Amino acid sequence: MTLIVTGATGHLGRLVVENLLDRGVPAAEIVATGRSLDRLGELAERGVRTRVADYADPGSLRAAFAGAHRVLLVSGLDPVVRVQQHRNAIEAAREAGVELLAYTSIVNADTSTLRLAEDHQATEALLRDSGVPFVLLRNSWYLENWTAQLAAVLEHGTLLGSAGEGLVSAASRADYAAAAAAVLVTAGHAGRAYELGGDEPFTLAQLAAETAEHAGTPVHYTDLSAADHVRALVAQGLPQDFAEILADADQGLARGELRTDSGDLARLLGRPATTLGEAVAAAVRTVQHA
Ligand SMILES: NC(=O)c1ccc[n+]([C@@H]2O[C@H](COP(=O)([O-])OP(=O)(O)OC[C@H]3O[C@@H](n4cnc5c(N)ncnc54)[C@H](OP(=O)(O)O)[C@@H]3O)[C@@H](O)[C@H]2O)c1
Repeated sequence: MTLIVTGATGHLGRLVVENLLDRGVPAAEIVATGRSLDRLGELAERGVRTRVADYADPGSLRAAFAGAHRVLLVSGLDPVVRVQQHRNAIEAAREAGVELLAYTSIVNADTSTLRLAEDHQATEALLRDSGVPFVLLRNSWYLENWTAQLAAVLEHGTLLGSAGEGLVSAASRADYAAAAAAVLVTAGHAGRAYELGGDEPFTLAQLAAETAEHAGTPVHYTDLSAADHVRALVAQGLPQDFAEILADADQGLARGELRTDSGDLARLLGRPATTLGEAVAAAVRTVQHA
């Protein structure tokens, strides 16, 4: 069995490869791909096969997917071109005759009105038309979207957003990766769409309170209008386009579009997902010991 993990130079793909190894999948059965072989060197040293696969380069995808049984397609990053990039990857998977193509989509993709959802919806449509057996890993938000900003939040005592009282089913990248690995190594997933998120949805005010509790310093959630949120993100140095996409996501969060009560993540993990408290506590420890 040859398992291909794309995006293995990135956070999620790397965690999927680690999880496969932890499960005892022989390193020689795993092919980790990315745009740079250098950045896959550490995995190669552990016996994982490494290949270059650039979503923009159909030839590299064909070469990378040759002999594959199952492929994890980690969604790309560039909103301008990524649907075409995903089309290239799906076509390469079709040519390789894979038995399963798993794609990291967005939670509630059937109904989501987030701007970020558009590329995922287009990619899901390509998958349905492709004839390739596929499974949708519809991930909600990463807890790391916030915990990675923890140092700044603690410095200012303020978590900024425009999500109101909306509830989000965020989960850790490691849990999404473990679920993806489970789908790659077990049977019965073709044709399924998993709505993946943490077990307990929370508001951003709850996130701030949890942060304050673990850090031992005051942290408040400041709810902004969408326009003010964009302005604040730009003032922090984000490009205007990206700031608008993030604020748009908070508007979706406010409407409940990043919430799921499916239980799919915990079922695939075979255990409860990492909680908000556990994730925040770990992030606070990291910041306080840095
Ligand atoms: N659910 C969420 O909250 C959330 C948040 C952020 C992102 N995402 C999505 O989830 C994906 C995985 O997240 P992550 O945290 O692992 O992101 P990440 O660390 O930025 O990794 C992205 C991966 O995609 C690869 N990639 C981008 N463009 C590519 C191309 N043209 N050809 C081949 N590979 C390409 C990158 O390769 P290089 O190393 O060569 O750049 C990298 O390995 C992201 O790409 C994004 O679509 C979800």
